[in-house]
Amino acid sequence: MNHFNYKNKSLHCEDVDIPEIAAQVGTPFYLYSKATLIRHFQAFDSAFTVDHITCFATKSCSNIGIMSLFAKLGGGADIVSGGELFRALKAGMDPQKIVYSGVGKTRDELKYGLESGILMFNVESQQELLALQDVAAELGLIAPVSFRVNPDVDPKTHAYISTGLAKNKFGIPIETALDVYRQADGLSHINTVGVSCHIGSQLTDVSPFVESLQKVKGFVTALRDTGLDIKYIDLGGGLGITYDEETPPEPAVYAKALEEELGDIGCTLILEPGRVIVGNAGILVTKVLYTKQGGKKFTIVDAGMNDLTRPSLYGAYHKILPVVDYGQGVETGDVVGPICETGDFLAKEQEVPVSKSADLLAVMSAGAYGFTMSSNYNSRPRVAEVLVDGDKVHIIRKRETLEMLIAGEVIPE
Ligand SMILES: Cc1ncc(COP(=O)(O)O)c(C=O)c1O
Repeated sequence: MNHFNYKNKSLHCEDVDIPEIAAQVGTPFYLYSKATLIRHFQAFDSAFTVDHITCFATKSCSNIGIMSLFAKLGGGADIVSGGELFRALKAGMDPQKIVYSGVGKTRDELKYGLESGILMFNVESQQELLALQDVAAELGLIAPVSFRVNPDVDPKTHAYISTGLAKNKFGIPIETALDVYRQADGLSHINTVGVSCHIGSQLTDVSPFVESLQKVKGFVTALRDTGLDIKYIDLGGGLGITYDEETPPEPAVYAKALEEELGDIGCTLILEPGRVIVGNAGILVTKVLYTKQGGKKFTIVDAGMNDLTRPSLYGAYHKILPVVDYGQGVETGDVVGPICETGDFLAKEQEVPVSKSADLLAVMSAGAYGFTMSSNYNSRPRVAEVLVDGDKVHIIRKRETLEMLIAGEVIPE
């Protein structure tokens, strides 16, 4: 459930009429509903009855105005870079609720994580382990480590967002991971505290999660048999959402299935949800510039693939709705942006509103991997982000200016 609804044929975010926001901030802009963000976080977090930490996946939506909401609700953060760590801390996340994943952490990033006192590093290779040992020794600190194991489970999702197959770059094969734990146990500045895995994103079926938990659980038992104390099981994120007609399990169904499989293993469960919390709590609002009939009907809008990359990158579907429904009806066509790439589209051969210049369109389900994947391609300033709270409108990120496009650039003498 979300808080984007029509009132008097005009799309509202909570109590605010979207055309009013467009008049205030210009277009395009990302728009988030605070009530929806809170509702989704709580629905997920409260679905678990075992000892757990919900570490929001920063990469999905990293605005500190949004992350701070989750911090206040007791959430933590899953991060994959020093930049995300900086954001999580600025948003008020407790370092002891921050877990750090990613295959390519630099020494500077490892140092930053150690100095910040994060809960654990989800280490993804033997070489990363040795780098972490080295950096921790230099600092005179002990690094809390969980290895990210790759369980070779098919998440049955888009190939680009599958991460738990043997052919993917992520984690350490679960069959050989025992050796790495043994090695880590012998290192002076490493303390192994957990096991982590993340098999992919936008999963619409609970069974791959259960299958990977079965493997992780067996592995934790094997580690304990060797005398290692494993306190945390981190199952990553990945629960899918409805973009079109998908029917992913509700968080309660997902949580129940995991808890049943987990049994009384006595570990704190860590979860790293992103999309399921923010995906349907945000939209992208864009304005129609022109329409034209080529080989097919094109609606040209002021947002492009640099603002929302998912359709171009993954062929992802986003429903497009009219912000004001004046009975214009729908037609089959493409909604395209101003970028000089044929791959620049927000909708391809799908049902879209019949539109004319200056109409506003809402690109739905854009809260996750929307703004965070945006870029300045074609030298387009990145758009504003707006958070609505009841009848209040907060600009949580200003639209970039032209000056910001060249900040840091230098013409050599
Ligand atoms: C390590 C890790 N954790 C969590 C997530 C969040 O996934 P989702 O947004 O599908 O919940 C991702 C996404 O790629 C990830 O790589």
